[in-house]
Amino acid sequence: MKPLSYFLLYSSLIYSTFAKKETREDPWNEITKITSSLPIRPNPFEVTELQGDISFYIPIDYFEESEESKFNDFWLSKSYPNQIYLYNLLTESSENYNNANATFMLSRLFLYQHYNFPHNKTLAHHYLNKYNELTSYSDPTTLFEEAVMHSTGLFGTIPVDPAKALLYYERAARAGSLQAKQALAYKYFNGINVPRDFDKSLVLYREVAESIKKNSYSDYDWNVNFPYFESYNVRLPDFEDGLLGPGLGSTSLSTVRKKSARPDITSSVLTKMNGGTIILQFGNVDNSNAFAIGDNDESEDQLVDIFYTAWDEYKGTYTKKRDVEKSRLLLEATVTQYDKDVIIMDNLQRYFYSKCLDLLGHIYFTGDGLPEPDLYAAENYLKKAILVIEGSSRLHSRAHIDMGLLQQYKYHNETSAVEHYRKSIELRSNNGIVEYQLAKLNSRNPSLHIGDSFTLLQAACTKGFIPAIYEFAKMTEKGLKNRYNCEDTAYLFKLFVEENESIMAPHLTNAFAELLLGNTETALWEYTKASEQGYEMAQVSAAYLMYQIPTKLDEPPLTTDERKDMAITYYMRAFKQNNVDAGVIAGDVYYDKGQYEKAFSMYQSAALKYSVQAIWNLGYMYEYGLGVPMDFHLAKRYYDQVLEFNHKFYLGVKLSVLKLRIKSFWIWIMGNQANTTIINPNSKSLPLVGRIKNIFDKIVHRGEYGSKNAKDAQKDGSGTLFEERNPHKTVVQSGFDGFNARTNNDQDGIAGYLQSIGLHSEDVITILFVIFVFSFSFIMRTLAQRRGWNVQINGIPINPNNNNNEPQQQQGGFFNGNFDVQIFAI
Ligand SMILES: *[C@@H]1O[C@H](CO)[C@@H](O)[C@H](O)[C@H]1NC(C)=O
Ligand SMILES: *[C@@H]1O[C@H](CO)[C@@H](O)[C@H](O)[C@H]1NC(C)=O
Ligand SMILES: *[C@@H]1O[C@H](CO)[C@@H](O)[C@H](O)[C@H]1NC(C)=O
Ligand SMILES: *[C@@H]1O[C@H](CO)[C@@H](O)[C@H](O)[C@H]1NC(C)=O
Ligand SMILES: *[C@@H]1O[C@H](CO)[C@@H](O)[C@H](O)[C@H]1NC(C)=O
Repeated sequence: MKPLSYFLLYSSLIYSTFAKKETREDPWNEITKITSSLPIRPNPFEVTELQGDISFYIPIDYFEESEESKFNDFWLSKSYPNQIYLYNLLTESSENYNNANATFMLSRLFLYQHYNFPHNKTLAHHYLNKYNELTSYSDPTTLFEEAVMHSTGLFGTIPVDPAKALLYYERAARAGSLQAKQALAYKYFNGINVPRDFDKSLVLYREVAESIKKNSYSDYDWNVNFPYFESYNVRLPDFEDGLLGPGLGSTSLSTVRKKSARPDITSSVLTKMNGGTIILQFGNVDNSNAFAIGDNDESEDQLVDIFYTAWDEYKGTYTKKRDVEKSRLLLEATVTQYDKDVIIMDNLQRYFYSKCLDLLGHIYFTGDGLPEPDLYAAENYLKKAILVIEGSSRLHSRAHIDMGLLQQYKYHNETSAVEHYRKSIELRSNNGIVEYQLAKLNSRNPSLHIGDSFTLLQAACTKGFIPAIYEFAKMTEKGLKNRYNCEDTAYLFKLFVEENESIMAPHLTNAFAELLLGNTETALWEYTKASEQGYEMAQVSAAYLMYQIPTKLDEPPLTTDERKDMAITYYMRAFKQNNVDAGVIAGDVYYDKGQYEKAFSMYQSAALKYSVQAIWNLGYMYEYGLGVPMDFHLAKRYYDQVLEFNHKFYLGVKLSVLKLRIKSFWIWIMGNQANTTIINPNSKSLPLVGRIKNIFDKIVHRGEYGSKNAKDAQKDGSGTLFEERNPHKTVVQSGFDGFNARTNNDQDGIAGYLQSIGLHSEDVITILFVIFVFSFSFIMRTLAQRRGWNVQINGIPINPNNNNNEPQQQQGGFFNGNFDVQIFAI
């Protein structure tokens, strides 16, 4: 019996292992079980709200090695057992069973950091490519993604291959990807990797536009109540002061949904009340006020605060999603509390109370956050809003817009609607909807004598009202007024298509979310997709993530050549889409790479579009002979030209021109001995307008730098192997006009310090000389005043006895008048 029992035992063992192998199957079911309990990623819009002070980091430098060590740390650390288990199952499913779903999920893990995985472009591309093969190139989303990968090379991960990219874009477009169509249309529009072809571009853009219009908007949306969307189409540098820093850019800031700042008391809207005779003040508390609720002291500002709180809730800010219901409840409570006190309100309070009523009416009108619109309540509030403000001032209320819509679409009283529209057409809050409705009324009923539909629609389109852009594009396409132009029409459709972010570019929102979570590389990928689709702001954001121009004379970013080239490409594409500042920055990146000729020609293109910074840079290039032969005359001409455009740089320009004169004088004296290429070729300091201004900034704020760095370093606690510089800290929505907290390469001694801020020894000499001339003339002036001397410079007497109101003149006219005199004296 023994052998038999052994035999049975063995055979059952063999059978069981054999059976195990048989029944061991694709673990996909287990995977779905695991993933259903893991969150794909935290919601940053909740996380940051808790933290109060909202910020995101954009590292300046990029090291491949540091990314790799982050990746390796993930697998070695014991903190992610679930993820590693999941990964093993997924690879088993993908590799042994060619499971497309598992392969797709793997690509999400490394491309989008789902389930907290580290970003890895190599693996992302590998699995995405495999997924596309497994699905025989039929999934439009992933085909589009692979196209983007080939088009950009994933910043050095795979070879850049425009031909392959084009192939994938076309495949994706055929499979139905609107994004791919948009990207192709953009390429044809600008002639990127394809011959420029406006006809093709127009066809593609129109197709996308028509599909959006047909599938996304009901007639009611389109005509009456166009849906509101929380846009994340912004340029990242605009969260600080724009690409070029405060006051220097020629592009307006894109960050329109920041948390509202409380208004400036002197703002024109407010002072226009009562014919501008009234001075409105915050905080002058009148205690006899009967309606004070809660804090007596704050009753004056309370309505202002309430309105802006409600407004921020209504529109949503970049870090907090909108909550219309909260807004409505707050406004309703306000109305209940304040309504009986309208008679005793002063102008400021009426102004903001009316705005509260208007917003509440608007919420009921649109039905946002409600089961359905309540037009009866809306009309009630809107009428009250108009009554409150127009009873005491000549201002018009925004409520006229919604009242007009009510009259037009609810009561069908077109005369009354036109009346309301006329009152609101000039308002700043008119986003073009008024002209759009007037144009409609006009074409339906010419007897109203409203005006010209074409002109009205054009105005609505210029103001950016989205349906108007589409209708105007349709109109130009028909060749009305003989103004048919393929390029213009394609451009209009492009604008319209880009406006629907929820279909065309939900990744703009994701990109911002990833930034808030600190996932810069994932954010970069999301912005890259939008850049390929032709979004100008995304191009700037993507380029900015790869290459930030130091604005305070720090060292330029350390990063790979592929990233620098990609950054240049995107800055240049943004420049071609009329972002002049981006052109200057593209020049700066070339400058940093030592390609002075290319930098020079970029500056030249930007200067043709009146960029003050570019003009200054041209002067600088001529002064030092960078990319062009040295030419002081041309340099001076460019410096002087800066003044023609912007007088703010008076001192900086005058000092530079003075320095130039001294330098040419010096060279003239020293003859050939003087080394005219005094510039230190290793110095990477970038030419900046207001260099002088920056130097003073840096000296004044040096103390702060240190402490801020320390704080930042503490906060990061980054313990990587590689020396990482403190990242830019962008504090969103706190009004902090942050100095970019970068390392100050602490240099010993004055010479080192001066070098670090971009001064060369000859500059120092000339500056000292200027200071000497200043003090000399000042002393002479004082002496002359005391002793009654009769001093003349260039034949112009500066004896103050000749002038009666001298003390004032001396103060004001010091730079403007006598400074020039001294220049000529030299
Ligand atoms: C990505 O993954 C591959 C393969 O595991 C690895 O060799 C590479 O170092 C990773 N790259 C980065 C940047 O982490
Ligand atoms: C993959 O997912 C799709 C839809 O999500 C599903 O229809 C399909 O059955 C899945 N395939 C496998 C092998 O589980
Ligand atoms: C885009 O279309 C969707 C419908 O698919 C719509 O819900 C959304 O409001 C539109 N977005 C914008 C910004 O108009
Ligand atoms: C339209 O409204 C005006 C007042 O705004 C009113 O005088 C007129 O009677 C209304 N017309 C109709 C047809 O209801
Ligand atoms: C001038 O300076 C440059 C760089 O500093 C140097 O290469 C060159 O030899 C110098 N020329 C003379 C004449 O000293």
